[in-house]
Amino acid sequence: MYTKKTIKDVDVAHKRVLLRVDFNCPLYEGAVVDDTRIREALPTIRYLCENDARVIIASHLGRPKGGYFESQFSMMPVAMRLIQLLGRPVTVIGGDKIAGEEALSASLALKDGQIMMLENLRFDDGEKKNDLQFVHRLASLCDLYVNDAFGAAHRAHASIAGVPEFVPAVSGLLLAKEVSTLTSMLSNPKRPFVAILGGSKVSDKIGIINNLMGIADTILVGGAMMFTFLAAQGYSVGKSKMEQDMVETAAGMLETAKKKGVDLRIPIDIKAADQFSDLAYTEAVDADSMPDDMMGLDIGPKTGRMYREVIYDAGMVFWNGPMGVFEFPSFELGTRCVAEAIADTDCVSVIGGGDSVAAIKKFNLANQVTFISTGGGASMRLLEGQKLPGVEALQDKDPAASEEE
Ligand code: 3PG
Repeated sequence: MYTKKTIKDVDVAHKRVLLRVDFNCPLYEGAVVDDTRIREALPTIRYLCENDARVIIASHLGRPKGGYFESQFSMMPVAMRLIQLLGRPVTVIGGDKIAGEEALSASLALKDGQIMMLENLRFDDGEKKNDLQFVHRLASLCDLYVNDAFGAAHRAHASIAGVPEFVPAVSGLLLAKEVSTLTSMLSNPKRPFVAILGGSKVSDKIGIINNLMGIADTILVGGAMMFTFLAAQGYSVGKSKMEQDMVETAAGMLETAKKKGVDLRIPIDIKAADQFSDLAYTEAVDADSMPDDMMGLDIGPKTGRMYREVIYDAGMVFWNGPMGVFEFPSFELGTRCVAEAIADTDCVSVIGGGDSVAAIKKFNLANQVTFISTGGGASMRLLEGQKLPGVEALQDKDPAASEEE
């Protein structure tokens, strides 16, 4: 159950609404190459415009140094794409300062249903520092604050955690959908609940594995972090990427899984290569037989088949992190196998941002997944069981209204 107020719980008409979105979209040669985050924010933007709000959109884009304008991080290409998708004009306000005099006058001149967009919030170094002066400048632009930036909700920045302290603050429709999908997956999963975790480092996934240990029925491990688990079982991993200082932790996780009755599976075979290259000589080897002079770059075919069967029997699947170096066609099979199994099943499937989203898109299977999160880091923090500053800062629904839902 989502306990925060959304734009549907308040009156937005004739109000200047500061809408924080996460339009941190990949760009190439000055154009947006993946507009998913823009599309996902459209329902909130449309709702606000159709209900006579005066909308001031604000986002960060990339990681500029801060303190000055850098053209490669300008919001202009994002605004162009938004205009195409919305079919409405959007004016980008640059000026000397983000949320300075020019933005204030423009916000006061907005008419019902009109939209303006601020330049990249991170051009002001007050954004990341949650600087009070910058917070006040942003707050002065609006009568109501709406956070729809799920992908940035784990950052305690001025436009995320600062402004809501001074202005009535509610969630946008995307933020509410993301948080309620991911939290209800954790609190009330359909069983068997299978978590598939890949990626390169155990250290990045410790928090999630520990949290899921009390929730998931089965955890399938892939990606380079599998080698730390295999080393924890006493296997040699050849030249594979692994974290020596996490071997004991991985061994502890295998122990905990046994005690808690969680089926924590690690690969039984590996696709090994003589070099990190798509053109490498490759061989599928059993997990206990990795040659000293080779490195593993994907799960092996037996593991792929085993993981696929587990996914077919699942009631709910959560996936984060590729199984291998799927960017190289020679090592995409494990990731493809998982992606295809997820796409084939009728179970509820959730993909938690980042590289797994890139993988499912590469295999053209994204439309066969129940829910794809727009947040990488933010969804990870939620899965670790942490609270997100951007959500905590928003107004709670009144308890009677929450109970009725
Ligand atoms: C993301 O892409 O994960 C979000 O936009 C957050 O970006 P950041 O990691 O630069 O804060």
